[in-house]
Amino acid sequence: MARQQSRYICQTCGAAHLRWEGQCRTCGAWNTLVETVVREADTKRRAGPSLASRAGAPQSLSGLREAEPVRIPTGIGEIDRVLGGGLVPGSAVLLGGEPGIGKSTLLLQAAAGLALGQRIGDAAGMGGVGGEVLYATGEESAGQVRLRAGRLGLLEGVAADRISVVAETDVGRIVELARETRPIALIVDSIQTVTIDELEGPAGSVGQVRECALRLMEMAKGDGIAVILVGHVTKDGTLAGPKTLEHLVDAVLNLEGDRTATLRLLRATKNRFGSTEEVGVFEMAERGMAEVVDPARAFLATTDEHAPGSVAGATLEGTRPLLVEVQALVAPGGYGSPRRTASGVDTSRLAVLVAVLGRRAGIGLGSHDVYANLAGGLELDDPGLDLPLCLALASSLRDKPVPRDLVAIGEVGLLGELRPVPGLERRLREAARLGFHTAIVPGSRRGDLPTVAGMEVIGVANLRAAIGQAVGANPGPAADDGEAT
Ligand code: TYD
Ligand code: MG
Repeated sequence: MARQQSRYICQTCGAAHLRWEGQCRTCGAWNTLVETVVREADTKRRAGPSLASRAGAPQSLSGLREAEPVRIPTGIGEIDRVLGGGLVPGSAVLLGGEPGIGKSTLLLQAAAGLALGQRIGDAAGMGGVGGEVLYATGEESAGQVRLRAGRLGLLEGVAADRISVVAETDVGRIVELARETRPIALIVDSIQTVTIDELEGPAGSVGQVRECALRLMEMAKGDGIAVILVGHVTKDGTLAGPKTLEHLVDAVLNLEGDRTATLRLLRATKNRFGSTEEVGVFEMAERGMAEVVDPARAFLATTDEHAPGSVAGATLEGTRPLLVEVQALVAPGGYGSPRRTASGVDTSRLAVLVAVLGRRAGIGLGSHDVYANLAGGLELDDPGLDLPLCLALASSLRDKPVPRDLVAIGEVGLLGELRPVPGLERRLREAARLGFHTAIVPGSRRGDLPTVAGMEVIGVANLRAAIGQAVGANPGPAADDGEAT
């Protein structure tokens, strides 16, 4: 039996039901009922929290007072950058990521930074603002948090005194505690483990996650306490809950990366107080998450060794350019069907490119085993990486290295033609900044190509021409090149 405080609301038509049903009786939609707290006087207009505005007379745009938000630095430059300069008091931030990726670690470090309120090169006199931070954990015991803090070297000093930890899953109690202790920031780890009294659904259900988040955000706005919610998200982003919060919170940050590798990307997919262009790059080290100094370079090879089969590509992660090393190895195959193995890029995409190379560019790999890889454990599905991947394969087959200062960008079509990709100029600029001097990009007429200082941009129409530029012309007929021209 549903208690009086909750109703199951259809997300499609808004009809309220007393108990959960698979299908909405009003509109007939399936699986759309979500348990929702009934608020008095709020039952009709429960379209979502009007957090930004308290009603008043309309004002002209020019008459509005400028409200440049105050920001509390987290002390971790990469997080501050992604947030747009720091945490805004009263804002709600969702930090999503796969389990074990390092969310709790990063937030404990951020908590220490918030407590101290330090900012490097601070001009606005914000330094030392800091304050209490409340860390509510439903995932671990306080003892486990202490262990982690010890590992991160956070057990001593001012920060340790200013961070309070509570193992609590009841949102009402967490809000109470926050109102009592008045921290500058409240961290809830994770939103899937907390529950609200009024609902009877289990922790982690869509209803619980949403109502808990709403209650916490209400407090955030009302009391000016910044709230950071942790949300576990699986690779396809489907784990119930966090996705439904994205439109409620002020900022959504995602921590990504390969758990078995050390590099992590922190991206803002939404940010009401800043841009979503910034990407923070971290390295999971022995003592927590360390900032990576030049992130655009992080995924390029660092060795002096320059073997055939390595080509730099430029991708856009979110909207920020990253240079990445694409590696390929081509080896004579044994018996049976040849292997196509890829990590970081899609295996079926690799198979398509291998076929196009054979039929359209004279790079016959039909009897070869083929391995492809992105350096640094990065995983991307950017069509702009087609060209560097093809060049890496050609380079490996011919055993001829591609010049180190060459970057390749472009999507490869089934006819072997090169197609433009979005953000070409931005990618080229970043490559030029990092010391690349030549770029091979899709294009036939010179006038269409962006001009980038210090960079020779070569436009080529098809894969064959691109390979000619990067690896040199085909020395002779290839094994299974069935191309007519
Ligand atoms: P964690 O922050 O618990 O991940 P999440 O909260 O996203 O589930 O960290 C996960 C991993 O990080 C864990 O397997 C151990 C590793 N780790 C380090 O490598 N160095 C460290 O200093 C810490 C604290 C953890
Ligand atoms: Mg955790």
